Amino acid sequence: MAEFDVQECYKVAMELVKTAGKLVREAINKKKNIEIKSCAIDLVTESDKAVEKLLISGLSSSFPDHKFIGEESVSAGEKCVFTDAPTWIIDPIDGTMNFVHSFPHTCISVGLWVNKDAELGIVYNPVLEQMFTAIKGEGAFLNGEKLSVSGETELAKSLIFAEMGSSQDAEKMDTVITNLTTLLPKVHGLRAMGSCALNMCYVATGGGDAYYEFGIHAWDTAAAYLVVKEAGGVIVDTEGGPFDLMNRRVLCASTQQLAETLSKILKQYQPERDGVSK
Ligand code: IPD
Repeated sequence: MAEFDVQECYKVAMELVKTAGKLVREAINKKKNIEIKSCAIDLVTESDKAVEKLLISGLSSSFPDHKFIGEESVSAGEKCVFTDAPTWIIDPIDGTMNFVHSFPHTCISVGLWVNKDAELGIVYNPVLEQMFTAIKGEGAFLNGEKLSVSGETELAKSLIFAEMGSSQDAEKMDTVITNLTTLLPKVHGLRAMGSCALNMCYVATGGGDAYYEFGIHAWDTAAAYLVVKEAGGVIVDTEGGPFDLMNRRVLCASTQQLAETLSKILKQYQPERDGVSK
């Protein structure tokens, strides 16, 4: 097993994330080179690629035995392999569509998982200067201030984050619309801001009570998973069972009761898992 010192990992990752943040901040209001990935609403820019390169080269020179799962490396054809080895799971820009449109709700997401468990998570919105951090067992923080979830148990009093996602699969889109239609008359409000990691972090702050999505990837949830957990929140599969990082479905909530209520109401959808060889 490769050597693993969580404090050292955190220190190195934090410096790299701050440097990457400068890249994102400088690029967000400029013209971007945009490429289409799996479909017309699944995009990548030169900034996504540059940030991922910066993070992976910096982390691998400090931790040569560690493994990586990065959104853009996987899109470029690298295998998405999740083992017990220390693995950095990276979304260089979560909320790429927002970034493309210069909407400042976008972030860098870096999680470290060891033995298939989350050890540290950093989610950074460099435009709004919001640094969400968590180390296992040490709590979750926003710019150094300790976070805790709202504790809301009732669906009728909940502000729920939902997302449209970045797939145009007909069954998936039908599931999204059905769930919005079902939930709308039952909740305080529904919001879709375009970043899975930030949605999860806002559940951790208590600014929202729950978030669910079908079709996210491991890199969208890997860092924020720990932020939510350390803030006292619950992360499960959309059907209510244990969360599976590679299964592309997430439901997080401020309480177990709210998670259970939501999981029973949601129409379900199963995308193809991450890591399936093509
Ligand atoms: C996307 C965002 C979005 C969510 C999509 C994700 P990306 O990540 O998190 O909110 O709805 O499912 O793919 O592509 O911007 O890293």
